[in-house]
Amino acid sequence: SDSVVRRDRFSGGPARSFLSSLAADRRIFEADLEVDRAHVVMLAEQGIIDAETAGEVLTALDTIEVDGHENLPDGEDVHEAIETAVIERIGDDGGKMHTARSRNDEVATCIRYRLREDILEAIETTLALREALLEVADSHTETVMPGYTHLQPAQPITVAHWALSYEGAVRRDTARLLAAYDRINESPLGGAAFAGTTFDIDRERTAELLGFDSVVENSMDASSSRDFLLETTQALSTHATTLSGIAEDVIIFANRGFVDLNDNYASTSSIMPQKKNPDTLELVRAVAGDAAGSVQGLTTTLKGLPRAYNRDLQRATTHAWDIVDAVTDASEVAAGAVATADWNEEALAAEAGEGFSTATGVADLLAANGLPFRTAHEMVAVAAENGADYDALEAAAQDVLGDSLESFVDPAAVEDALDPVESVASRDSQGGPAPDAVADQLESGRDALAA
Ligand code: ARG
Repeated sequence: SDSVVRRDRFSGGPARSFLSSLAADRRIFEADLEVDRAHVVMLAEQGIIDAETAGEVLTALDTIEVDGHENLPDGEDVHEAIETAVIERIGDDGGKMHTARSRNDEVATCIRYRLREDILEAIETTLALREALLEVADSHTETVMPGYTHLQPAQPITVAHWALSYEGAVRRDTARLLAAYDRINESPLGGAAFAGTTFDIDRERTAELLGFDSVVENSMDASSSRDFLLETTQALSTHATTLSGIAEDVIIFANRGFVDLNDNYASTSSIMPQKKNPDTLELVRAVAGDAAGSVQGLTTTLKGLPRAYNRDLQRATTHAWDIVDAVTDASEVAAGAVATADWNEEALAAEAGEGFSTATGVADLLAANGLPFRTAHEMVAVAAENGADYDALEAAAQDVLGDSLESFVDPAAVEDALDPVESVASRDSQGGPAPDAVADQLESGRDALAA
């Protein structure tokens, strides 16, 4: 037939393998079969093809599925190869399958169909990670540890407060991925090449058969837009960035002996017998770079593409597969590493007050007793230089105020403020590290996860 002749003429010649996406299309083989089935059912229901031909095509699609992607005939892509396989099985009538559509709306539908599954898997890993962080928080509401800014000891917190800081971030990552899911879950099928079709198709019906929430209405938008890929990869990249922060923190905590990774999430050295290294978390940290690279690659590919379909889009797709796989794996591993790590409570307690990290609490106390906060800040800074204990504060009071500490604050309250445990307990503002405030955060985290 004419189509076969034209395919022979435009077979690509020396550019054949450069043109072909067949290998990469392994990822959408099952999706394409589902899209074919829905389309053929709709064509028959609309009386565009007869029921008998539709039945033969559907049977052929089933045998093609059993034979698998690796046994497809050659083709420029999976769509062409499956159509050829149908024709091989039932003859020229198999070519009726491609009535009222194009590979352009077909591939866009396949990508959305498959990505919808993949993104749900990614979302599930974010839920597991939130669960793991909530568990850590639940077990460590009273485990004090040093908190840092600029990676310098800053104020004591608890392990629970640290874990919940990431739980909140991952919660937003989940929300962004869910929002992306809503935009993925719209059917472009029936947009045809870009300009619709003369056939009386039912786009709502194929959308329904494929489980899409709605259709992408404009046919040109349907077959040529890939902003759903951008949104999805950006959401994944944001999650990867959150993961890299968790990984980096735990790597630093492992370095300081605050946390001991489960052996399943650590590696050793081929030469240094004593080593236990946080390699899994280093790889989690690195995935943020890959993900950002994929977003960049995709954005650059899409930038300035004219309407409507252009073959550049074939290379846009692979960025999405790469990133969704890498980030899903990283998220799963991070959840496992966090869930199984041991926190060294003694080491954490011993270091919770390092670097005079209770200084802010002492300054707050002096300010609460009437000293201007800036004067209190100055006085505590002087004490920080001279031993950072009660005696140093007393000397600083004499020096800065010309009076004894006792003259304006209860010495027992000063001793409390210097103690990391008391320091944490006193910071009970909403969202703070005090066990009561953390209990509220735990509840919000649990409610959000259940929802
Ligand atoms: N394989 C192509 C892709 O991934 C789909 C085919 C559309 N090809 C075309 N020449 N219009 O985008």
